[in-house]
Amino acid sequence: MHDLYAVEKERTQTYEEMVERVLKPVREGSEVCFVSYGHPGVFAQPMHEAVRRARAEGYQATMLPAISAEDCLFADLGVDPGNAGCQSFEATDFLVYARTFDTRSALVLWQIGVIAEKGFKKQFDAWSLAGLEVLRDRLLEFYPASHEVQIYDAAQYVCCDPVIARVDLGRMLEAKIGALSTLYVPPTATAQPDREMVRKLGLA
Ligand SMILES: C[S@@+](CC[C@H](N)C(=O)[O-])C[C@H]1O[C@@H](n2cnc3c(N)ncnc32)[C@H](O)[C@@H]1O
Repeated sequence: MHDLYAVEKERTQTYEEMVERVLKPVREGSEVCFVSYGHPGVFAQPMHEAVRRARAEGYQATMLPAISAEDCLFADLGVDPGNAGCQSFEATDFLVYARTFDTRSALVLWQIGVIAEKGFKKQFDAWSLAGLEVLRDRLLEFYPASHEVQIYDAAQYVCCDPVIARVDLGRMLEAKIGALSTLYVPPTATAQPDREMVRKLGLA
């Protein structure tokens, strides 16, 4: 599918062409398997759309789950989302919709390297430094500059190790951030229990 990407072409157009490329052999009567990296239904609009459109046209279509970048992150960074909760947002969405979040829970931000980028670039480095600056400044409204965050790149091949950069939030842009990096922001503090709720649940 990679040949469908092009500089100056909006990714929504590319995604539409991906869906149609997958559906063409379906309509011609073939059994089709559409394979993507990570989880096909996580930050992967064309896969959802291909399944939705195939079903709407009367074909049987099933999405199978797989291992997302976030699943790899939990293993490689050794964090358990069950401990304090985990909030997960697409970085541009996080900024544009001023998402409400809790600094006492972990925060995972996807696509930090392509903030506000509608098109495609060939470089592996972050596509938008300006977007990263906006993100850092937004996070600094909630976390101290000394709060240590992790820029995470899962290994893409079995022979490789993940790349994990630990850096103070205020100096985040000094780390190597690529188009495939994910940001992990650990909780700032331990939450204090709601005593009334504790009593109500009989946990006292
Ligand atoms: C279009 S999404 C695809 C996600 C994929 N479907 C999954 O399940 O992981 C691309 C984003 O996923 C994350 N991602 C993809 N590959 C990654 C990797 N090797 N390490 C860390 N994050 C990754 C990054 O946030 C990246 O910007």
